[in-house]
This record gives sequence, C-alpha cells and structure tokens, in this order.
Amino acid sequence: MDDLIGTVDDTARWVAHHRAIETARPDALFHDPFAARLAGAEGAAIAEGAEPAAGGGDGWYLTARTVLIDEAVAAAIADGCDTVVNLGAGLDARPYRLDLPADLEWIEVDLPAILDHKAAILAAEAPRCLLRRVPLDLAGDGLADLLAGLTDRRILVLSEGLVMYLSPDAADGLADGLAAAGVDRWCLDLSASGVGSVMTERNRGILRHAPWRFLPADGVAHFEERGWRAERIDPLFPAAVALGRLDSPEARRLAAGPQPDPRDPGDVPWSGVVTLTPADEPD
Ligand SMILES: C[S@@+](CC[C@H](N)C(=O)[O-])C[C@H]1O[C@@H](n2cnc3c(N)ncnc32)[C@H](O)[C@@H]1O
Repeated sequence: MDDLIGTVDDTARWVAHHRAIETARPDALFHDPFAARLAGAEGAAIAEGAEPAAGGGDGWYLTARTVLIDEAVAAAIADGCDTVVNLGAGLDARPYRLDLPADLEWIEVDLPAILDHKAAILAAEAPRCLLRRVPLDLAGDGLADLLAGLTDRRILVLSEGLVMYLSPDAADGLADGLAAAGVDRWCLDLSASGVGSVMTERNRGILRHAPWRFLPADGVAHFEERGWRAERIDPLFPAAVALGRLDSPEARRLAAGPQPDPRDPGDVPWSGVVTLTPADEPD
C-alpha cells in the first residue's frame, strides 16, 4: 500500500480521481469529463489506499480548491490576463473544460512522465485555448528561462497542490523567481504548519515517496515577507462547508466561528487558496 505513490507525479492521479468523483455527483460543482480517464485505476487505488484526512476524507478540500481556483482563473481573465502558467499541472484539464478565450495561451509545467501520460490520454481532445506543455523539474532553475520568454504577457501563475511537495528552499526559490519575473498574479493553495500533524502519518505511509515538506508556520505572511501582497485569501475549511462538501453539525459550527489568522495560524491545520500579486504593483 505504501508504494501506491511511487513518485510525486502519482499524486496527480489521486487528485484527478477526486475530480472524477465530484463530476459524477448529481450536484457536481464542476464537470471534468476527462478526470476519470486521466486518473485511471491507479488514481482510484491511491485514493482508496489513502487514510482519510482529518475532517472527512480528501474530497472536501480538493473540490473546494478546484472551485476557488476556477474562480481565480475567471477573475484573472476578466482582468486582462492573456497567459496562464500552471506549475505542477499534473492531470488538470482546465484548458479543455473551462470557457476560455481562444487566443489565451495556457502553459502546463510538470515532470515529463505525467505530461506524456496526459498528452496520450487527451490526444484526440481539443483544448479551448492555445496549449503548450513544458516538462520541467521545478526544484531546478529552468522556470526562469520559460518566463523570460513571456515578458510582454499578462501572466496568471497557478500552482494547485504543488508547493507542499517542494523543499522549503525550493518553495522560497519559486516565490522569489516568480516575483523577479514580474508575473501579474500567482494563485496557489497553501497549507500551514498545523497541517503537519495531520500529515505525519501519511508522510510515513502513502506519501512516503512524496512527503509534504513546505508547510510554513507563518502561512500567507511567508509570502508577504518575500515581496508579495495577498489580494484574496479563501480558507478551504469554511469554503468546503459553504459549498456543502463538509456537512456535519460540528463542521458547520466550526465554520461559523472565528477562523484562524491566515498569517499566524498556530497549530491549527489551516489551508487556503491565496491569490498573490507583486507587492510593488500599483493598485
Ligand atoms: C497533487 S498533484 C497536483 C496536480 C494538479 N495541479 C492538480 O491539482 O490536479 C502535484 C503535482 O505537482 C507536480 N510536482 C511536484 N514536484 C514537482 C517538481 N519538482 N517539478 C515539477 N512538478 C512537480 C507533480 O508531478 C504533480 O503533478
């Protein structure tokens, strides 16, 4: 069971499987008709083998973050973004399932094997915008060259389910590199150090080969101290309750109460979707 995730890119199959589950619901909050094929039997096996996270499995936060990031993409496009760079894109199918301008360029970056798998599965499908795939290890420094070729663009960078798999140094290097490249916005999901207590068992078990490593104690402030400004912060727990994906009386009670400070969440397992802009951008 502990080897179901052999390398970090297998986590993309796991997440895609949860998008397939959401898609199959009669009250689905999004439709990803490609998710089941992309996840395959491997994705289902990983999801089955994973211990439920505290608070009711993995579906609630994965669905909430997908909905919130879909909204962030729509907001950025409405605001003039002409290029999306999705880092750690995995098996995300947004270029195929979202309503996008045909001349938008969407660039997917991930490790080569998972991009090859995706290209093979989706070979007969037509994306709704211009689509490019760039195989790259984001722990290295190849991203700067890619971004250097995009200087005239208005760029939204996405990273969904990525930064927690990076080392703290690599995550900081990514934050600094994106700020230096002058991207317009970076939308990411972020988990703070309190999530570490939830992840300890998984990091020894199902996530042994892909442990969560970047869980900053100072949450959103970690990025604000590196030249970013938080334009929008959506904690995942109350979002999942509001969306009806966590539905117990206890969850509703907790979501209605005071929420942890996203800049100082302490020991609470805080996660959120955050949209950052460079701090020196004029408002
Ligand atoms: C949990 S999956 C999320 C995939 C996708 N963003 C989604 O939400 O469906 C994490 C992704 O990050 C990618 N990733 C992790 N570390 C990486 C690295 N050093 N370089 C490139 N991609 C990486 C993995 O290959 C995997 O596809």
